[in-house]
Amino acid sequence: MNLDPAVINQAAVFTIVLSGLALLAGVFFIRQGNREAHMRAMLSASALATIFLVLYLTRLALGYEKSYAGPAEWRGAYLALLLSHIVLAAANLPLAVIPLAYAYKGLRAAGSLSAVDTVPAARAAFDKHRAWVRWTVPVWLYVAVTGWIIYLILGHYGTVMHG
Ligand code: HEM
Repeated sequence: MNLDPAVINQAAVFTIVLSGLALLAGVFFIRQGNREAHMRAMLSASALATIFLVLYLTRLALGYEKSYAGPAEWRGAYLALLLSHIVLAAANLPLAVIPLAYAYKGLRAAGSLSAVDTVPAARAAFDKHRAWVRWTVPVWLYVAVTGWIIYLILGHYGTVMHG
């Protein structure tokens, strides 16, 4: 099979943007008090982010990399954006896995989403869930938006590097 890394890259960006949209939907649902829809949206966001990771690692394994070849005066700003994106993307993995684990623990303790407030162990797990997601949501959105911006910049000013 002939894997085109540029197509894999486009698919990766598509899945990460979709994961950002699912995340926004999940935040919207929990603000409405709809825990069931929140759970579905967040599990979708997590699945999409996992697919993204697989596509991204496949692309790296194929040795496809683009470097910035735009205006020199913007190079520093681009590299700062790229660095912040990479650091926060790495941080996003534990920031997503830990609240997911607390949600799982809470749901198991409660037996169902409607019993979350009446079972103390579940309530405690979801309090921790809330404390973590305060960081998860902004970091995830920052990573999704900057990833898309970097993709657009490299689409315009990038040159393909051959390793
Ligand atoms: C990484 C994925 C997830 C993220 C980013 C996330 C994000 C959030 C956010 C932003 C809130 C509102 C917190 C607040 O009001 O201060 C919340 C609450 C909640 N989430 Fe999630 N969530 C995720 C996964 C899940 C899953 C899979 C479940 C399913 C069991 C779940 C169940 C809940 C519940 C029940 C609440 C309400 C907690 C309460 O009553 O205090 N979440 N989540």
